[in-house]
Formats: sequence, structure tokens, C-alpha cells
Amino acid sequence: MTRTADLIADVAAVLLSEDQIQEKVAELGRRISADYAGRELTLVSVLKGSLPFMADLMRAITIPVQIDLMEVSSYGGTATESSGLVRILKDLSSSIDGHHVLIVEDIIDTGLTLNYLVRYLRGKNPASLRICTLLDKPARRLVEIPIDYRGFEIPDQFVIGYGLDYGERYRNLRFVGVLRPEVYTSPA
Ligand code: PRP
Repeated sequence: MTRTADLIADVAAVLLSEDQIQEKVAELGRRISADYAGRELTLVSVLKGSLPFMADLMRAITIPVQIDLMEVSSYGGTATESSGLVRILKDLSSSIDGHHVLIVEDIIDTGLTLNYLVRYLRGKNPASLRICTLLDKPARRLVEIPIDYRGFEIPDQFVIGYGLDYGERYRNLRFVGVLRPEVYTSPA
């Protein structure tokens, strides 16, 4: 069993339980399977945060899918704020020319990462391009992002778990929690 006790001590509150997340993932999987029935779907996950969501969502989808993984990082920002400058650390492995592409994200915050990615992927000539995000934090949005599949709208709190990190920790928690402010305001 994973020892997460000391990680859990840094959690102020559970925002979304494991059951709530799994129920939502199942619902999204059903919707996506129905919407894309009879079409070739490619899921493009944006590492690292979306790894658990991607792993669960792809198994909740019942139609044939291909998957591809990208890793991007924003640079010039801080540990809690993205800068809008996006660097591709890992590109697509295969062509998406003519594919129906669904981007799988863990969270949309300012929208700057996806704004960049959508433009980038559109340039690869997909048949269609849609967005699925588990979490949507609209209070922080700087650019408008059309979200086709949204798991949960969440308040403007610093969340960790189920892929989301602070300083690369907490990704392995099975729930989404609010981080105690002392953790990111006091020096390590
Ligand atoms: C997170 C998240 C999104 C992005 C959202 O990634 O996975 O990609 O931030 O923020 P935005 O809407 O303000 O652009 P992060 O850069 O923290 O990398 P990670 O997934 O590796 O943790």
C-alpha cells in the first residue's frame, strides 16, 4: 500500500473524492464513446498532470482509440503561476493528419497552455480538435478556451492530487485536495 500519510498532512480539505472523480470519469467516457462512435479518435494527453486522468478516461471509453502523449512546460513563471510561455518537451509520436483529436488535460487555469497547444495542433491538420479537462478553474482565465468535455468547475484554490502537483509532489494522491497555504507560503 502506498504510504501517503505525510502528503495527506499537507492537505487542508478534500475537494473531490476518489469516488466522485471515478463517477465523473465514467460519465465522460460514456459521452465521448457515444459522440465519437464510428470515427477514429486519438486522445492526446498533456503530461505530466493528466497522466492519471488519461489512464482512467481511456479505459472508460469503449470505442477504439489511439493515444499520444505530449509534455509541455510553461517557463518564466513561478511554482504556482504559469507564464504563458510554453515549451514543448515531448512532441507527438505520430501524425494526427485527418484524425479526430481530443486533448486530455487535468486542469485549465489561465488557459494559456491550451491556447498555445490548440494552435499548435490545429497546424497538424486534424479532422477535428476538441478539449476534455477534468478540472476547470474559470476564475483565473486569461484567454477564452472552448471546453467540450468538463469534469468539474472548481473554485480558485490551489489544488493537488490525482496528477496535480506542487513542487512535483502530491501527484500520487487518489483524490483532489486543497493544499494548506503554509506549504507554499513558508520556505522549505
Ligand atoms: C498544468 C496543467 C495544464 C496547465 C494549466 O501543467 O497540467 O497543462 O498547468 O494551466 P494554464 O491554464 O494556466 O496554462 P503544468 O505546467 O503545471 O505541468 P504538469 O502537468 O507537468 O504539472
